[in-house]
Amino acid sequence: MIRTLAFTLAASALLAGPVLAEETPPEPIKGTPAENIGTQPFQGDGMWKAFHEQAGVNRIVDHLVDSAVVDPKIGEIFKGHEIPKLKKLLVEQFSYILGGPQVYSGRDMKTAHKDMGLQMADFNRLVELLQKSMDQEHVAFRDQNRFLAKLAPMERVTVER
Ligand code: HEM
Repeated sequence: MIRTLAFTLAASALLAGPVLAEETPPEPIKGTPAENIGTQPFQGDGMWKAFHEQAGVNRIVDHLVDSAVVDPKIGEIFKGHEIPKLKKLLVEQFSYILGGPQVYSGRDMKTAHKDMGLQMADFNRLVELLQKSMDQEHVAFRDQNRFLAKLAPMERVTVER
């Protein structure tokens, strides 16, 4: 029994090793958070409250990314990317834009999406999935549209021509 337990522990330590070793080393981020975020945040706490603060933004990003990675239209694009890291950076970005206390620690939108070959249809599909995620969180339609209006200009830098 004890031997089986020791073996299990040793095996899981072996399995845990390479996973940690494969993590991407942090790369230097150019520009300030405010420059990299790609837009100006909302003033005041109205939008932050409308999105149910940190817990609401976390749920929206979780739902958005979970639905994007299995989506028949855009799921393939996310293969091979670090999903927990993407979720963390999206939570930071969305929170900051909505007037929350988070600071964005990711890259600028052009650099982050460079060489992905994103098309208008991919962008539109991601927006549809975001709308579903905001619906699920019961964010008012008017506030959804105010947030989408902040993201819409990012189409110019994320989509390739
Ligand atoms: C308003 C539009 C968009 C916003 C605000 C946005 C936001 C972000 C953010 C904050 C990151 C992390 C940046 C970093 O890694 O430093 C990121 C990365 C990423 N985005 Fe977007 N994105 C948008 C459009 C899209 C679209 C349309 C797709 C694909 C359908 C997409 C797929 C990805 C992927 C796969 C990554 C991971 C990049 C990596 O691992 O290096 N994004 N995005």
